[in-house]
Amino acid sequence: MKILIVGSGGREHAIAWKLARSKKVEKLYCAPGNAGIADIAECVPVKAEDIEGICGFAEENSIDMAVIGPEVPLSMGITDALQEKGIRVFGPDKSCSRLEGSKAFTKAFLKRHNIPTAGYKEYTDKESLKKDIGIFGYPMVIKADGLAAGKGVVIAEDKEAAEKAIEEMMGDRIFGDAADTIVVEEYLTGIEASMLCFVDGKTIVPMESAQDYKRIFDGDKGPNTGGMGTYSPSLVFNEELEKQIKDQILTPTINGFIKDGLDFHGVLFIGLMISDDGPKVIEFNNRFGDPETQSVLMRLESDLADIFDACIDGTLDKQEIKWSDKRAVCVVLASAGYPGSYEKGKVITGLNDVDADIVVFHAGTAEKDGNIVTSGGRVLGVTAVGDTHEEAREKAFANVEKISFEGAQYRKDIGKINRK
Ligand code: AMP
Ligand code: GLY
Repeated sequence: MKILIVGSGGREHAIAWKLARSKKVEKLYCAPGNAGIADIAECVPVKAEDIEGICGFAEENSIDMAVIGPEVPLSMGITDALQEKGIRVFGPDKSCSRLEGSKAFTKAFLKRHNIPTAGYKEYTDKESLKKDIGIFGYPMVIKADGLAAGKGVVIAEDKEAAEKAIEEMMGDRIFGDAADTIVVEEYLTGIEASMLCFVDGKTIVPMESAQDYKRIFDGDKGPNTGGMGTYSPSLVFNEELEKQIKDQILTPTINGFIKDGLDFHGVLFIGLMISDDGPKVIEFNNRFGDPETQSVLMRLESDLADIFDACIDGTLDKQEIKWSDKRAVCVVLASAGYPGSYEKGKVITGLNDVDADIVVFHAGTAEKDGNIVTSGGRVLGVTAVGDTHEEAREKAFANVEKISFEGAQYRKDIGKINRK
């Protein structure tokens, strides 16, 4: 089977790494990929958002399956476009992609199907929003409805911060059309966890859980990022919680999809808040998480191409999905300045010095004059597995120290327990 992976981050490297181990896969392509992916797949210089270019490449090269990594091409309808050309796609269509592309759409879905989530109200004009400022008290959770590269959520501590956020979103339009609608939510407290699920249109199967670290600095300080590290499984999970999530969230979600005519084939990423009164949905994403995927796929024992086939064909209920009992920790190395502006082109050293059982997933890297150089905000995800959580954590950090580039920053508390 010839597979085309669309995207260029650590998530796509992890997907490629796992697919390269499949008996079914004879050729892997990645558009556009990065320097690490280039070791295991043929990288093609077509951007993930260039839907026409991707479709053209897939057709010309008789691609059997396309796997879509990022949310933007999914929301643009890349799945529908590829399917029109007769190509099998792992990733939801445009209609289902509203589950990530519009927070108001998802909140209405959750409410309609009685799935636990924060109370909310949506606004399309600034004046009514300003009149309702502090409606659920403070902190006030203010969200741009559309895609905003993970930056569209503001947790305003007081009235002044809320007014500023509203002005920026609806007055200055810093997120453009993405904030034409704003969702205001009740503030939830608890422990967050990420649950990625395979979905085949009628069956939903959760993967092993993961914990993400969204803020840039240790102790959950500083601005939000795409994610500075993860570990799997989440340490807050137990059988009782898993049953609650299944009964209160997973089952009503898949039933809701069927009822609403959402024919979802791909990964549904459920952002959860484990609060004192049970698990609640913070958000849905319509793709693998980054860097959750790096930790989670290191623990998958089954063939990922088989699972993708089952998701596309609607045979997930018959598919065996096996996980190892090992623990995984992924530590992200980022460029100086990230998540703000940063420089590129810094030479990375030490990549060949890591232990044999460590996988360094590349995110923002490129090859230049025979060197691997930085080319993005998040640069690498150093991922280790161990028999215990502590062992995985120690191995990950011991190996992070072997790699360097000018200005490299990483969180030292990834995997530390009881952060909140
Ligand atoms: P989202 O993009 O919707 O996942 O939001 C980004 C982050 O904001 C989440 O990971 C949470 O840490 C935080 N957040 C979002 N919604 C809420 C909420 N209703 N209550 C508390 N924190 C929230
Ligand atoms: N790590 C969070 C995300 O992929 O959205």
